[in-house]
Amino acid sequence: MSATYPSAVTVVPCLAVTFEEELVLALWTSEAARSTVLGMRGHTGASVRVAGRARILATRCSELGVALRTDFAGEHARWMGQVAGYPEDTGALGWFFLQRLGAYVDLHSEAVLPKGYWSRLVELGAQDGKDVGEALMRDGLPPPPPAEWPGVQAATAPGEVHTRIGVIGDPHVGSTMGDKFLPPVIDEMNKQGVDFSVAIGDLTQSGREEHFRQIKGELDRLASPYEVTLGNHDMWGGGTPSAVGQQRFESIFARRPFGVHDTGKARVILLNSADPRESPFPPFDLITGTFTSEPNEAVPGGSFSEETVAFAESLGRDGPTLIVLHHPPYPYLGFPALMFGLDERSTGVLRDLARRTKAWGIIAGHTHRSALSELDGVPVLEVPSPKEWPYGYGIVEMSDEGWAFNLHPAGDEALVAESSGSANVVIRRYSRGPDEARAFSAAAPGPSRG
Ligand SMILES: [Fe+2]
Ligand SMILES: [Fe+2]
Repeated sequence: MSATYPSAVTVVPCLAVTFEEELVLALWTSEAARSTVLGMRGHTGASVRVAGRARILATRCSELGVALRTDFAGEHARWMGQVAGYPEDTGALGWFFLQRLGAYVDLHSEAVLPKGYWSRLVELGAQDGKDVGEALMRDGLPPPPPAEWPGVQAATAPGEVHTRIGVIGDPHVGSTMGDKFLPPVIDEMNKQGVDFSVAIGDLTQSGREEHFRQIKGELDRLASPYEVTLGNHDMWGGGTPSAVGQQRFESIFARRPFGVHDTGKARVILLNSADPRESPFPPFDLITGTFTSEPNEAVPGGSFSEETVAFAESLGRDGPTLIVLHHPPYPYLGFPALMFGLDERSTGVLRDLARRTKAWGIIAGHTHRSALSELDGVPVLEVPSPKEWPYGYGIVEMSDEGWAFNLHPAGDEALVAESSGSANVVIRRYSRGPDEARAFSAAAPGPSRG
């Protein structure tokens, strides 16, 4: 799973340096967390069986010399429990969600487990599929919550704001909802009078040329300058899993997928984390718990190419700086744990860049959720996709003293009301994130850091 890097690049030592090792650690992390969350939710038998599955994966980790990361498992359990909720929060739907995370492990562990281990793991999970199916038949699904905006008191930047930056998470033009929600978001950003905007990858649903042209047409309606970078979906290339998506991006937008935009008082660094290689697995459908029949398009996790690393290495300190890229840094502990985020080695490059440039913040997309974390003390915000609940986009405000981020609604209330019915309670618990991720502010980093 790792790209090759120039030898001059300083690389942090990896615990998991091959695809097999990364994957088996990710699968163990998932099962260790799932056992905890099932137990908390009162599914005692299932929790014990899943602990058995985690032991099989732990044995394989040991055989491969991969150190177990109990801190990863603990953080993943915290996330999983927050999304699945207790039975009174999410009913049988929360249990169904947990069982489907197990189906992901069934399908992906065959590649990393000896046959006997794998059949025992699948055997231990079989009962849960039946139990969840019966619970769904008995209890039904909780009704979708009403259309709502997850309102929170707006965050304000310290000092006088001089720069306002619009942030569009994954637009996915070429998908039904992506096509519907991007136009009202562009209208809102023009009404808000932002000074500059970025769209953080997954510009298109499948990397098709006509969809790159379509999103450029929409972004060209912005009254102020904008920049774009690539996401994994853009690398799909319409059925040709190669760098063709990047070639289309570069010819249609007439720019590289990485670069620097200087607003006059703030600097935005864009990095390209999209990985053009073919995924070793077909896409996984969380609803059915199966692989889809679509081709194995690009790797969904992020990795920096040699040219992105060289570009990052060329940058130094130059005023207030934000770093924007599609994938959130390692260790990503949503779903699929570790495999869906930026890889560990590229995260080392990002970490060095953030320290060298004294970055104020890192802004990512890809996960279609609001989230807030940090990388060596630098805030990391994940901005949700406008095409999914709660249908929003971000505005960053910067002053000489600090910055703020607020998530704003897409603006077309009738479209939001019509679309909200497809977002069930588990999806909303996933997307909403903590209030601080939708309304965030921070002072400029002091001289002590880095
Ligand atoms: Fe996306
Ligand atoms: Fe993505």
